[in-house]
This record gives sequence, C-alpha cells and structure tokens, in this order.
Amino acid sequence: MKPISTTAANTPLSLIRVIFNQIIGMDDVISFAVGEPDFATPPAVIAAARKALDGRIGYTDNSGVRPLREAVDAEFRRYDQIDYDPSTEIMVTNGAMEGVYLTLATLTNPGDEVLVTDPCYANYQGAVVLNQCTPVSVPTREETGFCFEEDSLRQAITERTKVIMINSPANPTGTTASRENLEMIARVAIENDLYVLFDEVYKHLLYGDQEFFNIARIPGMKERTFCVDSVSKAYAMTGWRVGFICGPQEIIGYMPAMQECLLSCVNSPAQTAAACALAGDQSVVETMRRSYERRRDLIVDAVNAIEGLHCPTPGGAFYVFVNIEATGLSSRDFAMRLLAEQKVAVAPGIDFGALGEGHIRLSYATSEEAIVEGVRRIGVFVAALLEQSSRDRAGRPKQPAALLG
Ligand SMILES: Cc1ncc(COP(=O)(O)O)c(C=O)c1O
Repeated sequence: MKPISTTAANTPLSLIRVIFNQIIGMDDVISFAVGEPDFATPPAVIAAARKALDGRIGYTDNSGVRPLREAVDAEFRRYDQIDYDPSTEIMVTNGAMEGVYLTLATLTNPGDEVLVTDPCYANYQGAVVLNQCTPVSVPTREETGFCFEEDSLRQAITERTKVIMINSPANPTGTTASRENLEMIARVAIENDLYVLFDEVYKHLLYGDQEFFNIARIPGMKERTFCVDSVSKAYAMTGWRVGFICGPQEIIGYMPAMQECLLSCVNSPAQTAAACALAGDQSVVETMRRSYERRRDLIVDAVNAIEGLHCPTPGGAFYVFVNIEATGLSSRDFAMRLLAEQKVAVAPGIDFGALGEGHIRLSYATSEEAIVEGVRRIGVFVAALLEQSSRDRAGRPKQPAALLG
C-alpha cells in the first residue's frame, strides 16, 4: 500500500484526548480535563432551534444565514466596538475550530510559518499542520502571563512568516492580552506585513477588573485581522458547532467557495439557534460568567493552599494553569498518575507546548462540589509525592508507587 499523507501522519492527537478516552466508563472520576461549559444551552436558544425544525431544513448560503450574520455584526458592534458588514465581512463556520482552519487555509501556502505562543491552545499546532504550514512557537514566560513579548516575537519572524495567532483571553493560561501588548503586536504585524488571527472565544468570560480589547480596533489592523469567535463557550453551545470569522471583505470573499468544498454550509437549525443566542437575552451569559468567577476564586485559593503547587489568578476563560515543578514529575506523569491513583483527570501542560511543561491545566467549568473534592484529592496526591521525595532525600528505602496517596 502507498503511504498515507504526511499531513495525516504529522497531525498530533493531544494527550487530553488520550486522557478523555481513558476516563470514559471509569467510576467516581472528577474531570478538570476538558474545556467545555457544564451548563445547559439557554432554553430560549433550544426553543428557537425546535421551531426551526418545523420549517424546511435545506442548505443555507455558504457564508451562513443572513439573520446570524446580522446578529454577529450587532454583537461585534456592541462588545468589540467594531463594525463588520454582514453581506461581505462575516463568514459562518463550524465552530471556532473551523474558523481557525479556514482562515489559515485562505491566507497560507504550504511551507508558510505561523507564529503561536508557547504555551498555546493545543489544536492550533494541528490546524497549522493540516494546512501544510509550520507552527513556530514563540517562547513566553509565566512572570509576564505567557503573552507575546516583543524581542522573542521579532526574533521568530522569517521570510516565510505569514500569520500571528493571538488568543485573548487565553487557553490554557486564562491571560487576557492588555491593550499595550496588542499595540506592540500590531506594530510588529504592520512593520512585517503579517496577518493576525485573533481568537476571542472566551471574550465574554472575564473577571474582576479585566477588560477585553480587540486588536482590530488599532489603526491599520482591521484590514489584516481575522477575528475568530463562536457561541460555544459563552452560551454553553459547544456541541452545536457554530462559529464565525470577521475580517476584510477582499479575503473573506474567498471563503464561501472554500466552505462549499468543505461542508457546503453549517447545520441550518444550529445557525438559527446561534442567531437567537447572540441576539437574545444576554443576562444568561452574565449568570454563567458570575458562576465561573466564583469557581475561579474557589479553585485558585484551594490550589494555592497545597504545598508544592501554585497558580496565578487568571483574569478570563475557565482554566487555571498550575505550576507543579516542585513535585519533580513531568506533566504527563503527573496527569497519568493522578488519574490512576486519585481518579482526577487534568490536562498535562506539555500538551500546550514545550514551555507548558512543569504545569497542569485545570478547567473549572464544573460544579463547586467537584472542585472542592477534586482539589482535595490533588492535595492528597501531592502531599504523598513530597513526602516520598523527602524520604528519598533522607536516604530511606523507597515505597512502591502503588502505596502512595
Ligand atoms: C482558544 C480556543 N479556540 C477555539 C476553540 C474551539 O472552539 P469551538 O468549539 O467553537 O470550535 C477552543 C476550544 O476549546 C479554544 O479553547
């Protein structure tokens, strides 16, 4: 048999998926592994989808139904303070993931380089590889919130660089890029004639005094920025698979033809539901946001009370990125042993890039009871690890790992 494509062979399966597959069918597991809301989709949205089922369900315009594109435009004017023309500057996609893929497919040629932060959302690497491009990881530091820094960003740029990918608020760190940070990136992008993909799927989930700022508002940026967003996180609609791209019409204009070859169009009743979510009562988002904020405070305090672990207080999204270096375990071993010994599932930091090593990501989109019990188990696990390593240092005989915790 002839070999499969190098693209298929090089597309990574994340460790999070491996862990996710392992916990299926396991009893009494507490999962902080997967980043999706635990809330039900708002009832009004479900009602809108039900009503849509009564009509004719056919293909829609490749770029999405008009009421949804109008709702996206209104939402961007309201929240991002940017105006996009629903006729020419908005493309409806199968979730933000397709938005990322389609943006890269429209902008890049095989061999082009795409800059991402290290660490970054695990699927970015895969989306770049699927487009036969090279993901270039730009190092970031915990002390500066894992944001792009000017020196390392400039150093990463070559003749082949085409796109900078920004995610704010960010997965896995919860950091929201400041206006000053985005102004720095904008300067670099304009000077080097680069496009920007701005992933804002967590923009509604901000806490305390954090403020969201869209890089496309900076003069000279709207024409080179592709805002990728979806209803998945803010409206608890991950399974509906509706997202959108907002960007300059000259380039968005190529996307409907590409969409035709990929999926024709996004699921039609789901588009109706997404339009209802964006145009409807926004207090449902605020109710969920407040709940996430309470859970964030709970989990940050509980994690920082464990000797050997520490994490900053994230300003957005629903993740804490916990430093586990003091335990001496790799993030993979930490995650695997924690699952085996305490039945707690977490995402290993290495999944998000080499500089994610020494960390685990906990998603707190789960109940307060699960947070309390899950972090208690993590505390038991870490205490046993530290006790073991202090016994090892004192030169006492080692205990078998299975007896720990
Ligand atoms: C940063 C980021 N972008 C995009 C996505 C994908 O969102 P969607 O479900 O809309 O495809 C996720 C999902 O976890 C994410 O964390």
